[in-house]
Amino acid sequence: MWPEVVVIARSIKTLILEIVTGSGTSHLREIYLRVVEFRPEVPQHTVRARLSDMSRSESLEEKLNSFGNGFYGPYEENRELCSVVSYPDRGPWGDGSYRGNCSGYLVKVLILRFNCQSVFDPTEGGGTVKDVVAGINHFPRKDIDYEGRDLRLGWDILTGRLPERQFDLVWYHPPYWDIVTYSDDPNDLSNCRSLEEFELKLNRSVERLFQSVKPGGVMAVLIGDKRKDGRYYSLFRSLLSNPNSGELKALIIKLQHKCRSDSVGYHSRNPFLIPIKHEYCLVFRK
Ligand SMILES: C[S@@+](CC[C@H](N)C(=O)[O-])C[C@H]1O[C@@H](n2cnc3c(N)ncnc32)[C@H](O)[C@@H]1O
Repeated sequence: MWPEVVVIARSIKTLILEIVTGSGTSHLREIYLRVVEFRPEVPQHTVRARLSDMSRSESLEEKLNSFGNGFYGPYEENRELCSVVSYPDRGPWGDGSYRGNCSGYLVKVLILRFNCQSVFDPTEGGGTVKDVVAGINHFPRKDIDYEGRDLRLGWDILTGRLPERQFDLVWYHPPYWDIVTYSDDPNDLSNCRSLEEFELKLNRSVERLFQSVKPGGVMAVLIGDKRKDGRYYSLFRSLLSNPNSGELKALIIKLQHKCRSDSVGYHSRNPFLIPIKHEYCLVFRK
């Protein structure tokens, strides 16, 4: 005979998996559980998770391999990618304290979706993309070739020698003009004195980087807009009419979280000061 089960109410329980390190908490995954039946004698139903350690004497590598790729949620391909993405945390990759750093989720999705075997990050900053590639290489066991450069490492995107080889993906995350100033180098894109100068250097750098993309490969440019003295600047607009940056295949709007404008509320004196809470990822194909 079946135990008596009474349907009290339908409910969705959320299990949130997080990794907690010295530098804070990173959101790994949310699992939604549709609960349709409760035991009537229990007043509260909670979802609990237990984290268990494996014995050190076991071969950890063998054990991890036996779980297969799907076990590593952060490295699964997101097949539901659409033109709006939102990652409330930046993930466990790169230096979270590097100003203007990006989340690793979108670049990870692009690497997996386009099955990239080689990735070039010319403005490496805090090393987000480097860590994403290292993670993909380690967990889903790939062998992606990575190269990273940056002005702070002594390489200038406007004049420096490009790598000898070409890449499946060039991920370009330039400064958003002068929102964050990275150095006092005159070629630093964050030092441009006008929008015109920024657009000139942005286009020049994109054209140079395009030479580093393999035919059929992808160049993704992550860039935001900015507002200064009440004026709105669309920083990427000139890229859309540049014939030397490839064919625009997608424009992904990425919501921004924890940005400065979070603290800016409604301005009754200037109702046009609508806080900017998104950036763009332009996906070009060569
Ligand atoms: C928005 S940050 C990149 C952040 C990086 N994606 C991360 O997650 O940490 C922009 C980077 O562009 C670099 N940069 C600025 N001008 C440059 C130039 N002319 N050549 C190479 N790198 C440059 C800055 O040093 C800075 O690290």
